[in-house]
Amino acid sequence: MSKNDVGTCSLMAEYLDRIGAGKVLVDRGPLSFDWTPPSLVGRNSELAYLASMFMGIGNDEVSGRAVVIGQVGTGKTVLTRRFGEDIIRRMEGIRKIVLSHVNCRNHPSTSQVLQQIALSLDSRHPERGFSSGEIIQTIRRNIRSRGLHMILVLDEVDVLVRRDSSDLIYKLLRIDEGKSGQGTISLVLVSQDLSLMGMMEPAIISRLGESNVMKLEPYDFNGLIGISRQRYEASCRPGSVSDEVLEKIGRFAAETGDARLSIELLEAAIRRAEMDGRGEVSVNDVMPSTIRAASVEPSQVDTLSIHQKLVLLGVCRRLRKEEVVSSGDARKLYELVCEEFGFKPRSYTTFWKHLKMLETEGLLEAKSANTSVGRGRTTYISMTNTAPATIGSRIEKEMTNR
Ligand SMILES: Nc1ncnc2c1ncn2[C@@H]1O[C@H](COP(=O)(O)OP(=O)(O)OP(=O)(O)O)[C@@H](O)[C@H]1O
Ligand SMILES: [Mg+2]
Repeated sequence: MSKNDVGTCSLMAEYLDRIGAGKVLVDRGPLSFDWTPPSLVGRNSELAYLASMFMGIGNDEVSGRAVVIGQVGTGKTVLTRRFGEDIIRRMEGIRKIVLSHVNCRNHPSTSQVLQQIALSLDSRHPERGFSSGEIIQTIRRNIRSRGLHMILVLDEVDVLVRRDSSDLIYKLLRIDEGKSGQGTISLVLVSQDLSLMGMMEPAIISRLGESNVMKLEPYDFNGLIGISRQRYEASCRPGSVSDEVLEKIGRFAAETGDARLSIELLEAAIRRAEMDGRGEVSVNDVMPSTIRAASVEPSQVDTLSIHQKLVLLGVCRRLRKEEVVSSGDARKLYELVCEEFGFKPRSYTTFWKHLKMLETEGLLEAKSANTSVGRGRTTYISMTNTAPATIGSRIEKEMTNR
């Protein structure tokens, strides 16, 4: 190794040391959106209400049904996960319960959903050529022969219904009809779409039971502080994040009531403190201005054309989870959004014009960079002037109300 190499190595080590100094952070896990906290903040009555829909679940012939709706980041997914895990534990020695959680945005067709259910039972994949009715009966046999009860959560179920109608839900609700032995599956439907029930046929609504619909309200200031406090306590050194910091996070996140935003702001603030080599997060580390500040008014979106909105919605969905999206991905996301809302995607040239226009409007920023393969250049899109979640749900709301 030459002298030069050694120099580079030690420099690199220093830079890595700083990133991993861990003066604030002990365990990054609880800052992930997928972390299921041991208890939920401020959702006791909602959990109790959900539990009431599962009354008598300890008996073999009984199943529950529930519909959970609420805006983005109101804790629908985590609520159903927490409930599922809690009920499995509570029923130990009484009834064997298996939880299957299928996200219909990731698996939007009837056959994909059935495949996920089958996989959760650890069975062979459903074979091709069988009708959905036959696959459902195979799943039923599997559950019953093993003495199980399944709690099936269909998350973001509106995506499935919009694409394939509510036929699968109807079949699942009737899984035991005319058969010996009842109570095979409890069905939980989850959706952001407040008009979900309007998309269902009366026969389904009557089987689900209108009193089994629960709406989650957006979190308020105190709820959001509680959620970020829980994440901080689970991931950071004691005393590294003050009440003032948590309050500032709560104030900013309360604009949307989205729990994800409060976690995101906390993580960004921790990262800033760590980068600075400090052992305490300061109030100035909480900087929503760069991520979600209102230098763009959300209402600005209302004057855009339909396809500009669809392009923007695709981008917003990705940017809620990532910092940038490539133009290629933005195109694919746009096509998905078009499919979801029943529009025919415009040509690539028109799509590109829309992107440029959104950039001129200040809603998006675009930077081009060399691609890692070939000699091409790719454009990377980000959104620093405004909140992707706010803009995205504004467009979503309008599209679903059309
Ligand atoms: N009451 C709560 N207590 C603790 N953490 C929560 C609570 N509510 C939400 N969270 C956390 O906030 C994040 C967003 O919640 P979740 O994913 O459940 O929202 P959602 O309603 O399913 O959103 P979407 O509509 O986008 O799917 C998750 O990381 C979740 O763990
Ligand atoms: Mg969810």
